[in-house]
Amino acid sequence: MSDTSRRSLLALAAAAAPALAVAGAATAQTAAGGGVHAQLGAGRAAIVTGSSRGIGAATAKRLARDGFAVTVNYLTNRDLAAQVVRDIEAGGGRAIFRQADVADPDAVRALFDANQEAFGGVDVVVSNAAIMNTAPFAQFEDAAFDRMIATNIKGSFNVLREAARRTRDGGRIVALASTSIKAKRATHGGYAATKAAQEIFAGVLSKELAGRRISVNALAPGPTNTSLLDVPPPLRAQAAQMTPYGRIGEPEDVANAIAALCAADGEWINGQVVFANGGFL
Ligand SMILES: NC(=O)c1ccc[n+]([C@@H]2O[C@H](COP(=O)([O-])OP(=O)(O)OC[C@H]3O[C@@H](n4cnc5c(N)ncnc54)[C@H](OP(=O)(O)O)[C@@H]3O)[C@@H](O)[C@H]2O)c1
Repeated sequence: MSDTSRRSLLALAAAAAPALAVAGAATAQTAAGGGVHAQLGAGRAAIVTGSSRGIGAATAKRLARDGFAVTVNYLTNRDLAAQVVRDIEAGGGRAIFRQADVADPDAVRALFDANQEAFGGVDVVVSNAAIMNTAPFAQFEDAAFDRMIATNIKGSFNVLREAARRTRDGGRIVALASTSIKAKRATHGGYAATKAAQEIFAGVLSKELAGRRISVNALAPGPTNTSLLDVPPPLRAQAAQMTPYGRIGEPEDVANAIAALCAADGEWINGQVVFANGGFL
């Protein structure tokens, strides 16, 4: 090994030392049977973007059951968002709902402000809101492509940037990717590219937040029974056949996987793309 390489390695080790010391302290607390992570949900708050329906709504309800106070977000479906809040409250949980277009950074800041005012801070952020526009490259229209980039890439960036600023130490951040980043289906080029961006966002952010015990991951569902999966029944059946369980996912299947990443024991899963697709592909 050259002197330059050795010096680079030593510098890397020195830079990592403070983060390792913090991780060691957290492990000791956990091993002692308590500590900061034992009850991640208790007294804590979560923001789930795009949680008026689909995977986001199921995630908001699941995190509420795990003890998080939840800020539910929507773009147009106010009534559905209000119903998610009522469902959470009926189960004994706490929640508010707020309209915010994730593509608008000011609206995202206001969403986090609303959560702050209601619940005093945020511990879990799920960047879930997205749209799917599909077409062959040759026919893809500019407006459809640009809106998808604005929502899925810039929108998730807006949410993750605010999450980086405000998530309390020991928290969790999850960005929704998609199994389409592996499948590379015809017509999915634009959409899959926006979902591949979530892998990069999560990996980079996990490193930027080093030393604060905040785990950041991308979670990649497979075909899931929501209105985003706008495909005819034969294609749904085909997707079901490509899954060992013989069915496509339900929103709750994906919400359970997100909740596992957000649980106390999920800490060590960090900077990954976790495929939650029942074995699809
Ligand atoms: N379903 C699948 O098969 C599948 C597979 C892989 C990955 N995913 C990913 O999983 C996530 C959730 O998908 P889903 O199937 O649950 O979608 P969905 O049923 O279409 O729900 C989308 C949600 O996002 C909200 N939304 C859309 N644009 C928004 C914006 N600009 N600002 C704020 N909220 C916005 C919608 O609000 P309104 O109700 O107000 O419109 C709704 O709550 C997405 O990231 C998607 O890419 C889904």
